[in-house]
Amino acid sequence: MYLDPDEEKILDGESGTTKQKMMEILVALGKVFGAAGMVAIKSAQVSGASYKTIGEYGLEWLNSLDARVVVPAVLNPIGMDRDRWREMEIRPEFARKQEEVVRAYERLGVSMECTCTPYYITETQYGDHLAWSESSAVAYANSVIGARTNREGGPSALAAAIVGKTPEYGLHLSEERRPAVVIDAEGVPDDHEIATYGALGFHAGSVVGNRIPIFSGIRPDRDQLKALGAAMAASGAVALFHVEGVTPEAKRLSFDLSGLERIHLDYGEIRETFSDGAVDAVALGCPHCSPFELTGIAALLKGKKVKIPLFIFAARNVIQRSREVVSEIEKSGARVYSDTCMVVSPAMERFDAVMVNSGKAYSYLPNMCGALARLGTTEECIAVATSGI
Ligand code: F3S
Repeated sequence: MYLDPDEEKILDGESGTTKQKMMEILVALGKVFGAAGMVAIKSAQVSGASYKTIGEYGLEWLNSLDARVVVPAVLNPIGMDRDRWREMEIRPEFARKQEEVVRAYERLGVSMECTCTPYYITETQYGDHLAWSESSAVAYANSVIGARTNREGGPSALAAAIVGKTPEYGLHLSEERRPAVVIDAEGVPDDHEIATYGALGFHAGSVVGNRIPIFSGIRPDRDQLKALGAAMAASGAVALFHVEGVTPEAKRLSFDLSGLERIHLDYGEIRETFSDGAVDAVALGCPHCSPFELTGIAALLKGKKVKIPLFIFAARNVIQRSREVVSEIEKSGARVYSDTCMVVSPAMERFDAVMVNSGKAYSYLPNMCGALARLGTTEECIAVATSGI
């Protein structure tokens, strides 16, 4: 693997022990995956931020590091809203440890945004190289923006943020970004409902696994693309997908689809994923809500009161930009939390059944929180939260 003179110096320890260790991580990864060299990145998104997942060992490792990130870097969602954790009924002991983890990242220069939607915060453009961790963020960056990132682990994303580079392999290379399977989707309604695409992604991910699909027959908007990618990354391991006539690489490049396997998905059958049944909470915002989604939720809640807990999750920056909308939502008794989500927060573990409008949350809630998950449209979720049925 080729390293330029500056990279060699970092590897020799001339920029300090932490930077040297970080370069060692990147070089080891590059060698495993056959990278020819390193590529400069525009930003990083670092997982391994929830105390629920990294525990004491991870916290000690973070505290042992002594360097600063050199590109904009944000964190993945953590276990609680940093300001409103008491309202979320988070134990003080957990909150104290979670805050220690966040402080450790702050010391390294990571911005105090904990979100799986860094693209609403850090300007990200077609062709940018990135080192992002969270699977839905990776799918969005690659597919919807046309930026380039592999799905990084927490340590490799942090290493890339500190060095400012990542090994150039996998989805950083044009030849690795071509579709491998065609999905002909039929009967998908032309609505603006994200659950439609959460359900489609849930099914598509389980049939394509880690291959790169290209869809035909659908016209999703940006929030629907976000829902589609998140669900496919959860039920499969999709880090990049294309949609004919919609996503940037499908529009700019002419892919040769001859000889590829074709899979037919009929939305009439997929619709059966939506299920009725009693729930004791409703959670929206997986991935974190866009400003447009928050506005839609506010309209659905207007003049209503929630009868069972309704949690909504969004990036802190998005909530601050949508203050009036958020205060309208909260008049109903619903709560809009930042920094965390229904899957990574221990707050959701006290519920037996949770209704969601996300294919990813539908896929993860049973294992991560021990709760039965029910999938519904955003409108159905709000109707259940406000009727209590
Ligand atoms: Fe984001 Fe949490 Fe869903 S990290 S994609 S809201 S599981």
